[in-house]
Amino acid sequence: MRRIEIFDTTLRDGEQTAGVNLHLHEKLEIARALEQFGVDVIEAGFPASSPEELRAVQAIAEIVRGASVAALARSHPNDIDQAWEALKKAEQPRIHVFIATSPIHMEHKLRLSPEAVIERAVEGVRRAKRYVSDVEWSAEDATRSDWDFLVRIIAEVIKEGATVINLPDTVGYTQPKEYAAMFRYVLERVPGIEKVKLSAHCHDDLGLAVANSLSAVEAGVVQIEGTINGIGERAGNAALEEITMALKIRQDHYQAETGIKTEHTARVSKLVSKLTGIPVPPNKAVVGANAFAHESGIHQDGVLKNALTYEIISPEMVGLTSNRIVLGKHSGRHAFREKLRELGMAVASEEELDRLFQAFKALTGKKKEITDDDLLALFVDLSAPDQKYELVSLQCAFGFGLIPTTTVALRLPSGEVRTESATGEGSVESVYKAIERAVGVPVTLEDYRIQSTTGGPDALAEVYVKVAYQGLTSRGRGVDNDVVVASAKAYVDALNRIALRLPGVGGEVPVAGAADQGRPAGRSIDSGVVLG
Ligand code: KIV
Ligand code: ZN
Repeated sequence: MRRIEIFDTTLRDGEQTAGVNLHLHEKLEIARALEQFGVDVIEAGFPASSPEELRAVQAIAEIVRGASVAALARSHPNDIDQAWEALKKAEQPRIHVFIATSPIHMEHKLRLSPEAVIERAVEGVRRAKRYVSDVEWSAEDATRSDWDFLVRIIAEVIKEGATVINLPDTVGYTQPKEYAAMFRYVLERVPGIEKVKLSAHCHDDLGLAVANSLSAVEAGVVQIEGTINGIGERAGNAALEEITMALKIRQDHYQAETGIKTEHTARVSKLVSKLTGIPVPPNKAVVGANAFAHESGIHQDGVLKNALTYEIISPEMVGLTSNRIVLGKHSGRHAFREKLRELGMAVASEEELDRLFQAFKALTGKKKEITDDDLLALFVDLSAPDQKYELVSLQCAFGFGLIPTTTVALRLPSGEVRTESATGEGSVESVYKAIERAVGVPVTLEDYRIQSTTGGPDALAEVYVKVAYQGLTSRGRGVDNDVVVASAKAYVDALNRIALRLPGVGGEVPVAGAADQGRPAGRSIDSGVVLG
């Protein structure tokens, strides 16, 4: 049985999804969940992209134990130095250096000859090896590169001490048989290849990321890279929950195993979806809401007689137990803490536990039965301590045949509390117009989604929005018993995520050149903005 290592890049490639801006405490939460899920490597970020990103990688490196923490770097001395700066406290640090190897990238983006690219790659690995023993090297756009060129450059970086060689399908172009053939080609020709781990990294532009990754396993690859729920820019990355489940269910076929504890799958998927605001489609393999729902009479009959008739994965295997009622209004702090621990929700400090317990108590006053999903919704709703905008109060009047009217009081980054009123076609529109007036600059709502945490009239409402503000986009979420309040919270959350990235925001200073989908200019990696 071969051991396949799982390299998670949700916090790096996944965080490059348009409009996703995670707070530090959210990144830490995801890192903890990935650790419990049993991944071998957590790629925590790209430290040279911004000081905040460096700090986030540092913080993740400090808490993760039992998995390697990787930091991405271009083949530039400064990137590699920053990666080391971020990883110093990691138990198992890995520097991940990459450079593009396809003719189109070398000629038009890097403007370097193939020989110069080999030289840069070698220098990059050499510099990274000064800091850490574990160095991953990636040939960006490998699947559109010349295979003989790949053989040459891989041989050189192995001589410098690279320990992992990753051949990404950066633009989601390759086909399963072709990807496997590329790995076989290098495995047969590169001197010293037996000393390193070979890795696959696939994007989903043609919907083949998971198939290509599994095909790479058949060709001899021992590390698979991907993200939870397949998030990532454009069509996203290979979905790790699908790959790990395929390897488990079809172990007979792949003759391989991973260290993944699949019973954590549903939780890590829900957490990533809630924190990033990216929904999981109901028909999504392994983690979709309908993945275990049997609708037709024939199927229901079969499953009742023997679940194996139509179910190749059991709900328990992914950690889906019935959504139990966990706690009620008489539950104390101790029971509450124990419950969070049982659900794998790590609370960073006593203050955080206090805030969460208060929110839980407030909820028990409004909702009779508190379920696991309610607790997760409360948990991810813990607002960031460094909020710039804060919803102070909201009053909304609406009714059939009346014009919805809202008054909001919003605390601005300057500390001033501004009160504004607005009317709208609907109550949510009037809320958003009032907030926009208080902020003082145009905010555009690009997407609005609402769902209830569990069934029943007293269910919590979860609202997800995407807004454009000062040329940037951001997602936000809000949770409340009341739909209108949840909608307001989501809007303010989206504003805060943008504000944290913009010095001077709230002083209403437009930021020039930072229009790269919710992140400072130059932050996007795969789009090619910063490569070279
Ligand atoms: O898709 C890609 O090529 C990447 C590299 C930076 C590893 O994400
Ligand atoms: Zn990628």
